[in-house]
Amino acid sequence: MSFFDGGMKIRVSAASGTEAVLKRELVSLGYAPGGAERGRVDFAGDMRDVARANVFLRTAGRVRVVLAEFPARTFDELYEGIRALPVREIFPVDAAVSVNAKSFSGALFSLRDIQRITKKAIADEFAAEYGVKRMSESGERYDIEVSMSDDVASVTLDTSGAGLHKRGYRVKLGEAPIRETLAAAMLLLSVWKGDRPFLDPFCGSGTIAVEAALLGTRTAPGMGRKFAFEDFSFAPRVADGVRAEAEELVLRDVRLRIRGGDISPDAVKLAREHAARAGMAEHIHFQVQDAREMSSRFAHGVIVTNPPYGERLMKGRELAALYADFGRAFRAMEEWSAYVITSCPSFERDFGRRADKVRVLYNSELECRFYRFLGAPPARREGASREGGEERI
Ligand SMILES: C[S@@+](CC[C@H](N)C(=O)[O-])C[C@H]1O[C@@H](n2cnc3c(N)ncnc32)[C@H](O)[C@@H]1O
Repeated sequence: MSFFDGGMKIRVSAASGTEAVLKRELVSLGYAPGGAERGRVDFAGDMRDVARANVFLRTAGRVRVVLAEFPARTFDELYEGIRALPVREIFPVDAAVSVNAKSFSGALFSLRDIQRITKKAIADEFAAEYGVKRMSESGERYDIEVSMSDDVASVTLDTSGAGLHKRGYRVKLGEAPIRETLAAAMLLLSVWKGDRPFLDPFCGSGTIAVEAALLGTRTAPGMGRKFAFEDFSFAPRVADGVRAEAEELVLRDVRLRIRGGDISPDAVKLAREHAARAGMAEHIHFQVQDAREMSSRFAHGVIVTNPPYGERLMKGRELAALYADFGRAFRAMEEWSAYVITSCPSFERDFGRRADKVRVLYNSELECRFYRFLGAPPARREGASREGGEERI
């Protein structure tokens, strides 16, 4: 029996401001998540659920399993708590264990000391359990995090490996790209469910459009990549079963109307490359276009976009003029809705319309606002099919 054969507390991280979306994703996967706080959500499950979280969640940054939680006001208490870990059930004798430390509050705040004491306690426990004088660390990698909060130590093991925003389709970074996980959160906060026309008029390297296509086709974002837990010696082999589950759920014959435009031909070229690598090329039409001239023959479409911000790409008057022209073009589009993320404080004034909802979201470290401008929904057709994503994900 290994640590990974039973039920566990599973901890999923998300960007600040997107925890509620992550929680909703967990509920739709059939779980009962606990409270969402400080960029993380917990739920109970086994290794198959760890695999499902890694493969299916669109907004999660990383999935960890909680190895232990205990009070630690002193380094002695921290040392004893770590020594109590069932080391032989978690790590093989050649495990390469790395330790990262965090401290939010409480008596233990020196990250270097938290890290050092934890590593020593693990090495001492290896010596006692495996009879080795020194850990060889020649085998697979196990990333441990010790996080101190209000004098309680949480010891977690990363199961994701590369961050979950790394879906595998982005080969090069465009100019100021948005994280795949944040793009997915913006889409899940929008009214777009695959059924209406979709446009990102400042598409850059195509992240939002590609995430929309993955969402609209119900393609699990982690279906084509590997995770750290697949190399854990004592964990049951569950990943392939979960990938097969994900394959089954993909909508093969859905017709999506997704467009991406950008003024830069290089950006559009890169966006096309990313869409192709994600297997989504057939669902997205990319074109070189000035957002000031955007239009659509359809009504009730949805825009989700990340235009240039002052900080990185443009300054002052030029940016205000761009937002004003973008706003004018948007108002000419019949009953479209728009969702715009920007850090520019005068965005609503420049755009020329007050948002009906504003949320704070963080694009990496940068505090941004996510503005919602809702158009009227399309009239419901009698007996409308559910295909094309009538359900909220
Ligand atoms: C913040 S970046 C978008 C990044 C994108 N979300 C991604 O993940 O790669 C803004 C983009 O707006 C484009 N842009 C600037 N002015 C534009 C305009 N007038 N019309 C269309 N695109 C424009 C830039 O070329 C840049 O790619």
